[in-house]
Amino acid sequence: MSGKKGIELRSIGRPRAAVLTLCLGISAIVLICAVAMGGAKAQSGAASQMTNAPKTTEQEFKNIQVLKGIPADQLIPAMQFISASLGVECEFCHVQGAFEKDDKKTKQTARKMMDMMFAINKDNFEGHREVTCYSCHRGNTDPLAMPPVMAAEPKPGPDEAKNAEEGAEAKEPSGPAADQLFEKYLKAVGGAAAIDKVTSRVMKGTITFGDRNIPIEIYSKDPDKRISFTHTPEGDSITAFDGHEGWLGFPKRPVRDMHGPDIDGASIDADLHFPEHLKDMFSKVETRGTEKIGDHDCYLVVGQREGKPPLRLYFDEQSGLLVRLVRFGESPLGRLPTQIDYADYGEADGVKIPFRWTLARPGGRFTIQVSDVKQNVPVDDAKFARPPAPPEEQKGPAK
Ligand code: HEC
Ligand code: HEC
Repeated sequence: MSGKKGIELRSIGRPRAAVLTLCLGISAIVLICAVAMGGAKAQSGAASQMTNAPKTTEQEFKNIQVLKGIPADQLIPAMQFISASLGVECEFCHVQGAFEKDDKKTKQTARKMMDMMFAINKDNFEGHREVTCYSCHRGNTDPLAMPPVMAAEPKPGPDEAKNAEEGAEAKEPSGPAADQLFEKYLKAVGGAAAIDKVTSRVMKGTITFGDRNIPIEIYSKDPDKRISFTHTPEGDSITAFDGHEGWLGFPKRPVRDMHGPDIDGASIDADLHFPEHLKDMFSKVETRGTEKIGDHDCYLVVGQREGKPPLRLYFDEQSGLLVRLVRFGESPLGRLPTQIDYADYGEADGVKIPFRWTLARPGGRFTIQVSDVKQNVPVDDAKFARPPAPPEEQKGPAK
């Protein structure tokens, strides 16, 4: 647990990456990001890994004019934020393989839009990031200027999409103290003693995205190590985290480092003792009433963390189990949410774990259904190690 704090502090502003999210057809985005970062990495390479001072965007990339002076690892999250806000792929603004080029008018427009966005917030909202690309664009390149007519009969029930938004923070603090909910959750999953006994977990199951079902294997080991192998017909898609760094493997592609908010996500996913660590994770934490998720009434707990975006946790009012976790990827332009819904809780050696979870974010979603769990079996540390780079990556003294 003491190690936990260290990891959290150190990971501020350092490269992070694409966890779970990656594998699946979504790999499109992640892969492109990996490729985009590839060029920059090749030049900066070992130096940035040896010093702790985070590089700024203009040090790491070639042609930064607006997003200057921010940690370099926030650039790709900013790009993902833009893409999600406009509902486009990177190629909407970029020439393949040459992200620094300004050939496309859309890229130049985007720079002006960034300046406009910063000015709107500065002039009207005391510099708070109230208006973002998404505020106007809402997933379109051409924002609507007119309210649309009602296209169908109104649907009864709450607006789920609205609840998922970060902006839905208006709710007043209410409900049981967060500490009580954390304790109830810890008890519901078997208690601290049972959880302490878990030192490794090996899961086999199926990952589903769209209409594809693919076998997946996930190995976790204390402290905070996790690797998943998605066995696609083309080869394995791999997401790995060794407690500090992460890497991604794609069929027939060089291995890439994890970047961006995904290191934060990876360390949460890899934590076998998460229910126990919750109580020490936040600098400020509040219960914000109840929300319905499916048929369940859930307490929403919002936890603030030092130097990292908040977490939103939803606990089943009855069972006390965690049914949803929302985390945010920080970028200078706005935050990107990742929502994980946990279901099908079942017993494994005295602890309760979700046998199914769905991860959703603006770029896509997937569901993992676990069919087989083994705990406290030996898992070699070597399993989490980054494989050596293929020959064409090894050139130069950088390694
Ligand atoms: C709506 C337009 C737009 C989209 C979509 C977009 N970008 Fe960008 N990108 C920009 C702009 C504008 C800059 C320059 C920012 C600046 O000057 O501060 C940039 C800069 C970059 C750079 C730095 C290049 C260099 O060396 O100077 C990279 C890398 C990058 N983008 C990657 C991506 C990736 C990956 C995606 C898809 C996830 C993406 N971008 C989507 C507009 C876009
Ligand atoms: C205040 C509202 C508003 C905000 C905020 C905003 N935009 Fe726009 N954006 C517009 C409007 C309106 C247009 C369409 C202008 C037109 O049709 O000529 C547009 C057009 C664009 C285009 C050109 C699209 C095309 O098809 O050529 C790009 C690229 C773009 N915006 C990127 C961004 C980015 C990136 C951000 C965030 C940094 C952003 N916008 C924030 C209102 C906004």
